[in-house]
Amino acid sequence: MTGTAADMGILGRFQRAAPDALLALIGLHAADPRPAKIDVGVGVYRDTAGATPVFAAVKQAEALLLAGQDSKAYLGAEGDGLFTERLAAIVFGADLAGAPGLAGLQTPGGTGALRAGAELLARSGGNRTIWVGTPTWANHVPLLEAAGLKVRTHPFFDAGRGDMDFDSMLAGLADVASGDILLLHGCCHNPTGVSFSDEQWLALADLCRLRGLLPFVDLAYQGLGDGLEADVSGLPLLLERVPEALIAYSCDKNFGLYRDRVGALWAWTPSRDTAEAVVSQLCAIARVNWSMPPDHGAAVVRLILSDEMLRDSWKAELDAMRERIAAIRRQLGASHPRLSPLARQKGMFAMLPLSATQVVDLRESHAIYMAPNGRINIAGLTEASASTFADVLVPYLELR
Ligand code: LMR
Repeated sequence: MTGTAADMGILGRFQRAAPDALLALIGLHAADPRPAKIDVGVGVYRDTAGATPVFAAVKQAEALLLAGQDSKAYLGAEGDGLFTERLAAIVFGADLAGAPGLAGLQTPGGTGALRAGAELLARSGGNRTIWVGTPTWANHVPLLEAAGLKVRTHPFFDAGRGDMDFDSMLAGLADVASGDILLLHGCCHNPTGVSFSDEQWLALADLCRLRGLLPFVDLAYQGLGDGLEADVSGLPLLLERVPEALIAYSCDKNFGLYRDRVGALWAWTPSRDTAEAVVSQLCAIARVNWSMPPDHGAAVVRLILSDEMLRDSWKAELDAMRERIAAIRRQLGASHPRLSPLARQKGMFAMLPLSATQVVDLRESHAIYMAPNGRINIAGLTEASASTFADVLVPYLELR
């Protein structure tokens, strides 16, 4: 018997949503009994033993928190103000971090920062368009559209060369209109592993200024490309040349705080008044979404950045992670000419020229788990598994 619409109620009308294709890999990989399985799917750092350990500095800061935190009373929609302030010094450098027109708030992860920023832009009036390079992080377009922005895409990557195609990017942005937004990956682009050079940041700054675009920078991998400072060398070049920008930040990877959901969002504006008005609007957006961000991870980051020893320990561990990723990149790059771009790229991710069918076949026949678009997480490999991976992969690449 088929029920009427009334019989189905409200909740009964829903079909199952398709699982998130990337996050579904976590369960698929966990359920695979093959001992030699390789997980280059979801972007988490792994050490040579295949583990994702908690940073030593995080453990120490957590012990301090456990002993010293005497209240868990609400902090408010802005979260931990000292966390945002200390983090800003690393992201923007001491001078820019103190600029009166810069203000920020703590968010639940980089995703929370992107969502709050996108909602703010959608609320700013005029059916806003945001330009997004393709390919991009799988959640960017759904998130931006869900927040009410109109997404238009431009080319970004030359898959044949395994490199950024900056000329095509600029050509693809020929139709931008004043008041549009341009989404930019701060460093170590997800999924392609390329980063803008300082010259390219300058060109993008000119484009934004001359065409009236607001840059929305997504910075999720600071420290995993060339180093903490080198990875953000383009930010001041951009900010000193544009009146307005938004910067979304994630501490997932560089503090290893994935599930604690630690992020921040800053508004770069022409004046203290504007910055304060924008943050008050972001707090209003936070209030109707998550009310207040989770405290624990942000308090940990605040403690690490406030103590020289913890900070040095964190940096040393981050440096070692970056070096390990770079070494695997060099190993893969040297293993076959088709993989040579991987040695030039930076950070956790690379995009392989594989078809969706090949990705499924690699999973089913060889227990290699990667994102459906051929993105791999380099940090999922060890020296030994990288060699197996390359041996299995090369015949697939040669078929293309
Ligand atoms: C990834 O890109 O794999 C990570 O950032 C996890 C996620 O949320 O998609």
